[in-house]
Amino acid sequence: MASSSLTAQVSCGTQPSAPSFSGLRRTCPMLDAAVSFSHQSFCNRVNSSIRLVSSSHRSPRGVVAMAGSGKFFVGGNWKCNGTKDSIAKLVSDLNSASLEADVDVVVSPPFVYIDQVNSSLSDRIEISGQNSWVGKGGAFTGEISVEQLKDIGCKWVILGHSERRHVIGEQDEFIGKKAAYALSEGLGVIACIGEKLEEREAGKTFDVCFDQLKAFADAVPSWDKVVVAYEPVWAIGTGKVASPQQAQEVHVAVRDWLKKNVSEEVASKTRIIYGGSVNGGNCAELAKEEDIDGFLVGGASLKGPEFATIVNSVTSKKVAA
Ligand code: PGA
Repeated sequence: MASSSLTAQVSCGTQPSAPSFSGLRRTCPMLDAAVSFSHQSFCNRVNSSIRLVSSSHRSPRGVVAMAGSGKFFVGGNWKCNGTKDSIAKLVSDLNSASLEADVDVVVSPPFVYIDQVNSSLSDRIEISGQNSWVGKGGAFTGEISVEQLKDIGCKWVILGHSERRHVIGEQDEFIGKKAAYALSEGLGVIACIGEKLEEREAGKTFDVCFDQLKAFADAVPSWDKVVVAYEPVWAIGTGKVASPQQAQEVHVAVRDWLKKNVSEEVASKTRIIYGGSVNGGNCAELAKEEDIDGFLVGGASLKGPEFATIVNSVTSKKVAA
């Protein structure tokens, strides 16, 4: 997207002037900048135009503060961690954890342990690959095909994770093609987007996220099995979690982008989850935000009880008894 103007990127109805966004503008580089009143009112305006769309789709399950109509979704990305023994312990902890019913729960073990996890983990939790090849398998040394992921029991794949983008060098278009292929074979896709620190400080958060989103949108034929994970790179594995307001303002913008560029129905139904230093202590506050439909969790997903706490943060969206 060419323009970095927030007003050009996010519709704001009759909003006459540029809103003040915490941490997203060139003039406001501090990550922990306070959220201004004008930002709040701007978000409310964007929210209210989306609420009109989503309210008719909202499920009647006694959950409030939820802009989208999709079920809460929590994924555990184990990355390149674990041994047979540590994974047996983690699976055992997950099997004995008590998990709220109205949450989709997925874990993503390293490829070599997927079979072990699939044969020992409760059916309550689905399994995801951490990556997949862009097309049908064959002579692609070191790659794992979508067909193989399905064969070994995966229902999902994480694509576009920042470590694949920025460490391995995967590009937007390639990631979009991977998503299209995985969906065509029936896997669900956890489609990751997110800006680097210098991009946020340069006021380019929305440019980056929307470009990454567009690459998915250009490639995928349907959003039915896509979950969008907003994961600011500066928050991943750093212990520096986005504030609930920082996450919410990007999530609402992503939902608005989907509404304008895909459809109102997709904007309402698509889960937009947050990732980046989510843990048992900060998940409840994040989950209260209307457009945060769950989490993608790295480090804290390696501890069964803490991951269960994060799954169960759905309760902070529910009406108090
Ligand atoms: P983190 O990782 O929770 O360790 O920050 C999140 C992710 O990379 O998905």
